[in-house]
Amino acid sequence: MSAANSPHNDQQPMAPPGTGPVRIGQPVPRVDGVAKVTGHARYAAEHPAQGLLYGVVVNSTIARGRIDSIDTGDALAVPGVVDVLSHLNRPKMRSLGMLYKDMIAPEGSPFKPLHDDRICYSGQPVALVIAQTFEAARHAAGLVRVHCCAEPHETELRAGLHRSHIPSRLKAGYSPPPKPRGDADAALAAAPVQHRGEYYSGVEHHNPMEMHATTVIYGPDGHLTIYDKTQGSQNCRWVVSRAFGLSKDKVTVRNPYVGGAFGSGLRPQYPLLMAVMAALHVKRSVRVVLTRQQMFTFGHRPETLQRVALGADTDGTLRSIIHEAVAETSRFEDYVEVVVNWSGQLYRCDNVRQNYQLVKLDQYTPIDMRAPGAAHGVYALEVAMDELAHRLGMDPLALRLKNYAEHDAAKGLPFSTKALRTCYERGAERFGWAQRPLAPRSMRDGRVWVGWGMATGTWDASQMFARARARLQADGVLVVSSAATDIGTGTYTVMAQIAAAAMGWPLEQVRFELGDSTLPVAPVEGGSSHVTTIGSAVEGACEKLQKTLLKEAARLPQSPFAKATAAHVIFENGWMRLRSDPAVAIRLTDILACAGKAALEVTYLLLPNMLKQKKYVRATHSAVFCEVRVDEDFGTVRVTRVVSVVDAGRIINPKTARSQVIGGVVWGISQALHEETLADHRLGRFMNHNYAEYHIPVNADMPEVEVIFTEEEDRIVSRLGAKGVGEIGIVGVAAAISNAIFHATGRRVRSTPMTPDKVMAAEGNADTA
Ligand code: MOS
Repeated sequence: MSAANSPHNDQQPMAPPGTGPVRIGQPVPRVDGVAKVTGHARYAAEHPAQGLLYGVVVNSTIARGRIDSIDTGDALAVPGVVDVLSHLNRPKMRSLGMLYKDMIAPEGSPFKPLHDDRICYSGQPVALVIAQTFEAARHAAGLVRVHCCAEPHETELRAGLHRSHIPSRLKAGYSPPPKPRGDADAALAAAPVQHRGEYYSGVEHHNPMEMHATTVIYGPDGHLTIYDKTQGSQNCRWVVSRAFGLSKDKVTVRNPYVGGAFGSGLRPQYPLLMAVMAALHVKRSVRVVLTRQQMFTFGHRPETLQRVALGADTDGTLRSIIHEAVAETSRFEDYVEVVVNWSGQLYRCDNVRQNYQLVKLDQYTPIDMRAPGAAHGVYALEVAMDELAHRLGMDPLALRLKNYAEHDAAKGLPFSTKALRTCYERGAERFGWAQRPLAPRSMRDGRVWVGWGMATGTWDASQMFARARARLQADGVLVVSSAATDIGTGTYTVMAQIAAAAMGWPLEQVRFELGDSTLPVAPVEGGSSHVTTIGSAVEGACEKLQKTLLKEAARLPQSPFAKATAAHVIFENGWMRLRSDPAVAIRLTDILACAGKAALEVTYLLLPNMLKQKKYVRATHSAVFCEVRVDEDFGTVRVTRVVSVVDAGRIINPKTARSQVIGGVVWGISQALHEETLADHRLGRFMNHNYAEYHIPVNADMPEVEVIFTEEEDRIVSRLGAKGVGEIGIVGVAAAISNAIFHATGRRVRSTPMTPDKVMAAEGNADTA
């Protein structure tokens, strides 16, 4: 690797030698693969610091009340313990809620750890033991006695339905449900075929491989270098500097490697603020790592209840769609997600009514989790569509094609691109859908029932604004940077690939720098928008650099490029050539050498073309087909085959994109069959906060997953033609599985996860579905 140009150069991976030129659409292996499997990639809790202290969090055991007193005597007596922080002795922090709001905070006042004596959810951090070793801190944390005065709490969604409210719309990127169109209730009543169903989605907690952690390195001048598990280094720097009243240049946040995040790191989490508190308190470096149990103490995919009603003509034409959802939120913030809106966009229908409400509970604010809103909103709609198809005696895919939306009727706008029809066709063909018997309980293998189900998926294709910097160095390394994040999605790889392709530069000589708040501005890695945003900024920066190189080349004595414009030259394999006479060429590094420059650098600002974009609805789509095998005696379900066909525009790297969709399918299977956090409402506390009792799928639960991309270019969403993958992979999976269970058994399960008890208790008469 090349000379150090940035202080953390060693953390930025590059492709191995011999990779050569690459193009968009090539399945380039991960450039960070070697660093990860050899342990060279350091995660937030792995960065060393001199005299590092360890903080372990103490959490509340009641859901609501006040702290009377904290007895720290036994904890402080443990050898190695330095101090115990609580609201009584923490360093001074700002108290205005506004100053704790991160860039994607919803309406309300964010939770402030160790702020005062109030307890507002079970698991709330109430103290931090700081010690010389992690072991001492953890042992002492168990000796901290927190005496509380408990107050009655409410943690049950169903019990709070009578006090639900319509959330305000104050969150970046959130659109409340559109106004009703037509008269959905009258149209439903008049429809010859009707379906009404109630759907339930249980709470899910984030379980990325890397647990949330923060290492604060306390510099000699008081500068804080913070390694945090986050999806946005600049978002964290913003909050830390505001909450502690520190100037921005006193704080650097880094996240060069993130071991999965899926939304858990979109907002700064309490370990960050607590580690900074501790570092400021003891004026030393401090690390705080959450335990797996503590991963269940800062937000979750909200418990959601939905009602869907569909009315149709006997030929399957949809006449009415009603979709209502109620979800939970905390007392202090209105967490909102788009649950019902998709239902007015996915199918052609003139009468649509949607409603979305929240119930405030004594819980932490729910949190984005892969395809927030769509993962269960589209699930409910797509199970309801299957139920309607059954009532109509119609093939479920035929029903969807019958009501295919060529444009978005909710907004009266065309789609920027939409290849959903191709998804349906290719998926049906690969899966062998034509062989599917219409009636449930038609396929059996010994004592196991076999069923085939399908569902549609959709997600937003969005673009934000960002800057990227491109620098060509005399040593031949092209350094491209942006304060982007790689949460395991492949950002390092695809950004290096986009830069290499745009510059005509060998991939192994491209270094993409991300994960540092001092780099050019970038949004959080969320909403499947990093490729459309950062990728476009990278491409723009490279094109700008090419123009700068051309200008330099034109200035050289007797330059054959003196009169050339950008249109006259091509860049390939490290050279710039005249298009009209490719023999006339100069090596890019020679341009630098001749001009006597060590490097050439440009910065590019990517601003979405909103005037153009807002004339279109921009979305990704998918069709998911799956096979299940159900043992009716035990109620056990195995998913044995999945075909997922995704329209995400142009695919930059089919290898990393495919991994994204497979990951989504894994989680869809998990949502459908395994995952749920259960609360004991008497205690107001999540009980199964461990891997023994919180079930996630393992390899043995995973079938063969086939991923197909339709590869349509969408130049409205991004100049690259890409629409973004990541979240689309999960959407529709749970519905397809639910629909397959029905096809196998005639039993309709309207609640996730579809555990054996629910499968056994489900209505068994296919005719009354
Ligand atoms: Mo994703 S839930 O936007 O990290």
